[in-house]
Amino acid sequence: MSQDSNKKRTPLAAGNWKMNGLKESIAEIAALDGLIENNLPASCEILICPPFTLIMSFQHILRDTKITVGAQDCHWQEGGAHTGDISAIMLADAGCEYVIVGHSERRSDHHEDNGTVMKKAEAVINAGMKAIICVGESEKEREAGATLRIIENQLKNSTSKAMSSENTVIAYEPVWAIGTGKTASVKDVEEVHNFIRMLLNERFGEDGEGFRILYGGSVKPANAESLMSASNVDGALVGGASLKADDFNGIIDAYRK
Ligand code: 13P
Repeated sequence: MSQDSNKKRTPLAAGNWKMNGLKESIAEIAALDGLIENNLPASCEILICPPFTLIMSFQHILRDTKITVGAQDCHWQEGGAHTGDISAIMLADAGCEYVIVGHSERRSDHHEDNGTVMKKAEAVINAGMKAIICVGESEKEREAGATLRIIENQLKNSTSKAMSSENTVIAYEPVWAIGTGKTASVKDVEEVHNFIRMLLNERFGEDGEGFRILYGGSVKPANAESLMSASNVDGALVGGASLKADDFNGIIDAYRK
């Protein structure tokens, strides 16, 4: 495994709760905070993105802890007649520091294209938060040998010159690895992450090296260490395993040495 300069970037362990969580989940997040306080310090940032309904209560519980709160999506406009939508400034007002945009489930369930994802990411940045922009190929695209072409297209068209390593994180999530228990091999992950790094360097010059590139797709305590030590992997975007304090803490263990 090539050891690149990724250790200069502060890794991010991010939990995406998706459409899961009720008031009773506040106990789970308090348990996670306890585990983080009572274990060795981790050399990563820790983020939880609950559903909108839990953002304010999580923010209340997690104030002054090592866990930050984010959201899973937003509208690109600041406000107005958009029934059912939430704007980036509302999320910043609720205490969010990050917003995930362009998750494959949003791209497929809500037909979000790269242009929409870019507008959302810009809204997040304009509201003073950081955007986590997701990219990833489907199983069909991987089998057709189109992975890198798909990633390049998504990355180029979902990012804009307004973005920098300070306000934007990239998450590579192969769609076929999400919620399936199938994880990409370390070799496949490195191939895509190294490719994303090259594209970021091309587009953002020197600052390209500063962007964090997260891996997501069936990350578990058992595979976190090998995935997180791979070249150009600067953290994880975790779905299912972030719902349980023990499991998410087990993933964070990859950053306790
Ligand atoms: P799983 O960890 O459940 O595979 O989900 C990954 C994901 O989609 C995180 O955004």
